[in-house]
Amino acid sequence: MDFDAVKQRRALQSRSYVSLAPNLIHLKTAYGHHEAAFEVEAGIASVTFYHGDPVQSAELLMAAAEAVTAEDRSITSVVFEGHQTSLPRHIADADGRLDSAILWQWPSLWLPQLSYPLPPVQEMTAGRYHPRRPAKPKGTIYRRFIPWLERDITFTVADPETDLAAFHRWMNDEQVNTIWEDAGSIDKHREILEARIADPHVLPLISSFADIPFGYFEVYWAKENRLGPFYDADDYDRGWHVAIGEPGYRGKKWISAWLPSLMHFIFLDDPRTKRIVGEPRASHEQQIRNLDRSGFAKVKHFDFPHKRALLVMLGRERFFGDRLWVPAS
Ligand SMILES: CC(C)(COP(=O)(O)OP(=O)(O)OC[C@H]1O[C@@H](n2cnc3c(N)ncnc32)[C@H](O)[C@@H]1OP(=O)(O)O)[C@@H](O)C(=O)NCCC(=O)NCCS
Repeated sequence: MDFDAVKQRRALQSRSYVSLAPNLIHLKTAYGHHEAAFEVEAGIASVTFYHGDPVQSAELLMAAAEAVTAEDRSITSVVFEGHQTSLPRHIADADGRLDSAILWQWPSLWLPQLSYPLPPVQEMTAGRYHPRRPAKPKGTIYRRFIPWLERDITFTVADPETDLAAFHRWMNDEQVNTIWEDAGSIDKHREILEARIADPHVLPLISSFADIPFGYFEVYWAKENRLGPFYDADDYDRGWHVAIGEPGYRGKKWISAWLPSLMHFIFLDDPRTKRIVGEPRASHEQQIRNLDRSGFAKVKHFDFPHKRALLVMLGRERFFGDRLWVPAS
């Protein structure tokens, strides 16, 4: 059967999986319900479907591979007993093994609006020479099922029509304001959101668990950002800011879902992005600890006009090679 990315995207828009017992998963996709058992030896998971015929469906095999590799960093690849020929031709190796670092970089599994990355055309902004950035999407741009929370996380492009009230509340939250220093009126917050949406180098996102919005992210292209002049920024380096606005969604079980998922989205969004950077205030120990646990290397301290910051960096190879979509235990 030919692999069809559009069909795959449709089929996998909504999928979930639960562990019925150790090494036994129940999968729910648009194809129905399936059960699969797997055994792991030397980091290779051999998967056998024993309930529900996978009928040569690449989509289903990839969903099963995601389920098997979603919570266990020790699994480096997946092989399907008897079904590997259904995978896209170039994705598995000659022995039919699917490397988890390839699977998790396969964007159509998680990006509902996948498009070919904008080819490079250079331009100049405020004295910085950088690639033209793509027009911004609208709506949901990332969806991932989080097994330990038994719900989806989504990232949706912020829209003042629907998100202003939450954004206003979050910016006035004490913990957020300590760092963002953007507390104020609803008019001020509408202006901020509209400015971010109009700025080609920033993608403002609302993140939700099971469709309940809990936080705001800004994903930016580093080269033309205020950070760009402070290090040797690559054309496709990206950075991010975060405000978890709903206090009920702070803490380990949530951050270990949203933080790796945001990094996953950034790496999927453009395959040329090799590094994700951050610039927390040098004194923000809580977030520096979180970044450290999430795989970011500490690069150097430096002085912005408004704060002393720590440059941190997460490499694509580190994220996928060490399977950091799985939270640290
Ligand atoms: C800073 C902020 C993003 C942190 O998120 P949070 O939900 O409050 O997270 P916490 O720091 O309470 O919890 C982190 C816990 O998860 C753990 N953790 C962090 N990343 C993890 C990962 N990838 N895998 C597993 N555990 C992880 C931490 O070790 C810590 O565990 P501990 O409590 O056992 O020490 C959030 O508080 C916030 O938005 N603050 C206001 C704005 C802000 O400071 N933005 C950051 C600017 S740089």
